[in-house]
Amino acid sequence: MSVRDVFEPGRTAVITGSADGIGLAAARRFATMGLNVVMADLGGDRLWQAANEVRQIAREAAVEAVPVDVADPAQMIRLRERAFERFGDTAILMNNAGIGGGGHAFERPDRWTALLSVNLGGVINGVQAFTQAMIDKNRPAVIINTGSKQGITTPPGDTAYNVSKAAIKTLTEGLQHSLREMPGCRVSAHLLIPGFTFTGMTRRRFAEKPPGAWTAEQVVAFMLERIDVGDFYILCPDNDTPRALDEVRMAWSAADILENRPPLSRWHPDYRDAFAAFVARKI
Ligand code: NAI
Repeated sequence: MSVRDVFEPGRTAVITGSADGIGLAAARRFATMGLNVVMADLGGDRLWQAANEVRQIAREAAVEAVPVDVADPAQMIRLRERAFERFGDTAILMNNAGIGGGGHAFERPDRWTALLSVNLGGVINGVQAFTQAMIDKNRPAVIINTGSKQGITTPPGDTAYNVSKAAIKTLTEGLQHSLREMPGCRVSAHLLIPGFTFTGMTRRRFAEKPPGAWTAEQVVAFMLERIDVGDFYILCPDNDTPRALDEVRMAWSAADILENRPPLSRWHPDYRDAFAAFVARKI
């Protein structure tokens, strides 16, 4: 399948979480490429302002703002109906909306529920609502789910967030397998794994872009490059973390099981030196 036909002027992108950050950067980029954009986010001024901003730069393309809570399956079905009724198409579905602030394993069950219903529930709802309709359209199309390195190396801190992102990885791998096995299917799935990115989520902690962070625009540019060459895992570096370092960290994490080490040994004082030596050996 050529993804070039996906990112064609006149086709349509549906992006959740597009009032800010990576989703907004994607909306801007797709609009300048001449794609129609359906911007889905929690309603309110932020969404209208973001959509107006994208409309200013859209050339021929139409920009539609749709207030949606991705945690609600019925609202995601209505989002699909809206996209197909207005544009007859969804070439790109970005299940991207996400929040942080869950907590460790045995605190704040209310936050766990809220976080999982948005981060994981939102992606499940998007996949359930759109996939069959995109397949039935019989045109090349992509589903891009936003995961995180925290769903792969699962650092201590926000365990609820890690669980949601690990589950998105598993869900997207299973989805891509099913699509690949389906004769004649012209839809593919991709896992976007941003590095440290300066967005609404990170602006809560840093007033200015930290030197180590990428911009949301860099993430979107990298995503397009990697989809173009057919990557499933779109593993973004940032200014602090080259791909080689990510690879070493991931290899160490996976080897916790193989080596029968304690979980999260990378952050275990007894393994600090061994991890440092491992990194030094590999890079
Ligand atoms: P952001 O906070 O700038 O954008 C997220 C958007 O999602 C916001 O506009 C927000 O209103 C929307 N949203 C939240 N709950 C929603 C709901 N229930 N329904 C609809 N929309 C909702 O954050 P950012 O960084 O652009 O996040 C995008 C994705 O990237 C998230 O899935 C996040 O977990 C992921 N990510 C971000 C990283 C970073 O360093 N910024 C690193 C790795 C992953």
